[in-house]
Amino acid sequence: MTNVLFVCLGNICRSPMAEAIFKDLVLKAGLQNQIQVDSCATSSEEEGHQPHPGAQKVMAAHGLDYSYMHSRPITRQDFDWADYIITMDGQNVFNLNQMAPAQDRHKIHLCLDILPDKQGQEIPDPWYTHRFEYTYQVLMSALPAWLDKIKAAN
Ligand code: 4NP
Repeated sequence: MTNVLFVCLGNICRSPMAEAIFKDLVLKAGLQNQIQVDSCATSSEEEGHQPHPGAQKVMAAHGLDYSYMHSRPITRQDFDWADYIITMDGQNVFNLNQMAPAQDRHKIHLCLDILPDKQGQEIPDPWYTHRFEYTYQVLMSALPAWLDKIKAAN
């Protein structure tokens, strides 16, 4: 089993969209018994909240299920559980490195680092930009490559 955890600041915009997209990719690849997917936040600002209405709209438009999702902050168990901690921007990477037990820091990755021509780039926060469909498109440009990497490692 490979466990993949998507993390952003609030767990209401980017990481729930990434979770929903990646679960769909895993299902379509028939790998749901081999890859588990979850998401969480570096803050407890939005704890208990459903995805942002803009994220809900885009997920619905792309046939993705978000009905079960509620924001939650990352815990010590998450760092242990995850094999890949995939996050959205430099601030998330910094915060996660502060929070992670030393032995789990190697699991932390910037999402766009999987694309050779996008290394070091961030996924803009639609909480500020309101560009939810653009966020979906950027995630869709990178997440199939993460699935390929995980498949190749198994
Ligand atoms: P996310 O977006 O990190 O993509 O879920 C945000 C959600 C909430 C806040 C900031 C960003 N906030 O400040 O509450």
